[in-house]
Amino acid sequence: MQLGDVAKKHHIQLRGPNQELRYEECFTRDGFDGPYTIMYHLRRPHTHRLAQAGHGWTAPVAASDRALAKRHYQTGALDKRGGASLDGRDPARPATPTHGGVAPIDARVPLLFNADVIAGVAFPSAPDPVYSADGDADQLVYIHRGGGTLRSLLGDVPFVQGDYVFVPRGLLHRFLVDASPQHWFWLSLTGGVHVPTQWRNDVGQLRMDAPYSHRDFVRPVFRGPLDESIRELVVRRAGIWHGFTLEDAPLDVVGWDGTVYPWAFPILAFQPRVSSVHLPPTWHGTFAAKGALICSFVPRPLDFHPEAIPCPYPHSSTHCDEIIFYCDGNFTSRRGVGPGSVSHHPMGVPHGPHPGSYEKSIGATRTDELAVMLDCFLPLTPTAAALSVEDAGYQDSFL
Ligand SMILES: [Fe+2]
Repeated sequence: MQLGDVAKKHHIQLRGPNQELRYEECFTRDGFDGPYTIMYHLRRPHTHRLAQAGHGWTAPVAASDRALAKRHYQTGALDKRGGASLDGRDPARPATPTHGGVAPIDARVPLLFNADVIAGVAFPSAPDPVYSADGDADQLVYIHRGGGTLRSLLGDVPFVQGDYVFVPRGLLHRFLVDASPQHWFWLSLTGGVHVPTQWRNDVGQLRMDAPYSHRDFVRPVFRGPLDESIRELVVRRAGIWHGFTLEDAPLDVVGWDGTVYPWAFPILAFQPRVSSVHLPPTWHGTFAAKGALICSFVPRPLDFHPEAIPCPYPHSSTHCDEIIFYCDGNFTSRRGVGPGSVSHHPMGVPHGPHPGSYEKSIGATRTDELAVMLDCFLPLTPTAAALSVEDAGYQDSFL
């Protein structure tokens, strides 16, 4: 993408209407080896005074060891104030209510985590009152309910229910939320979110047979420099939030080009695959990151072999912990889960459909299920917040 004013060549002078020199910022990934974006600021982007961090969600803390079992967490039952009381937040740094609500930066409740992934939910009810940047991980937020705008250095990304919203690691931003009730399923991914290799050709373009196209992505709308009178920035590094005071308005970018930028992707833009027989989750692979594959299960016709069993086969994915966030529709294989449910099926033991679902699926021609699935390659640990909304009968519901 290229938006606004950029110099004719990278690393040479760009000047404003009165010959003012612009300040380049190279926003790079993987050191200087990976994708990058070059932006041009009105002022130097690296002037920060140290300050207290007044905002930031609480890092996940492992709950006590538990039996190896299938788990179900009913996230809709969580404390809508952000779960601060559930997860050991430092009482010296409480979640700060803003305009009578809780901002996204404070509202996130981690549920399950490993070294690569933190998965959680959030019920924000007010805009972020400060800017933030995540120095630890990319953020991928699935908007189960609600909508709003992601405002960033690189422009605004509007989002609605059913969108994935991507925020690259280190990008200064804040979330604005609309008045509707918000219920987000979010992922913090340390290894970098990308399009799975199998959907890209040799030059990185999406293949003709990829399950989505470039046009499906909602890109940032750039409006030029903006002063929102906000001078507070919080940055997460090694799970801890650090505070800074900014000299000037940070949204002072006059133009940029590159391949690192925030976007939204509507889950229903994903083109599902159907076969004569049941396809494994890899065909639903939407985004990848180190140690994780994110899949989208969307409404679709079902398998059409005359003897097909459309319901997923029982399986032992011996190298994956599987999370499913149930969004809407009837899930073919499961009972007792509903919108907002998170199931966690650990590696080490097989899992599969609920009793009767396998047989009942024979002859079915369509499913209206909508869900986000995550295969994680390291075991996941729950937090106290997850345990507080656990469905105690889930393990035995498969008998
Ligand atoms: Fe599975």
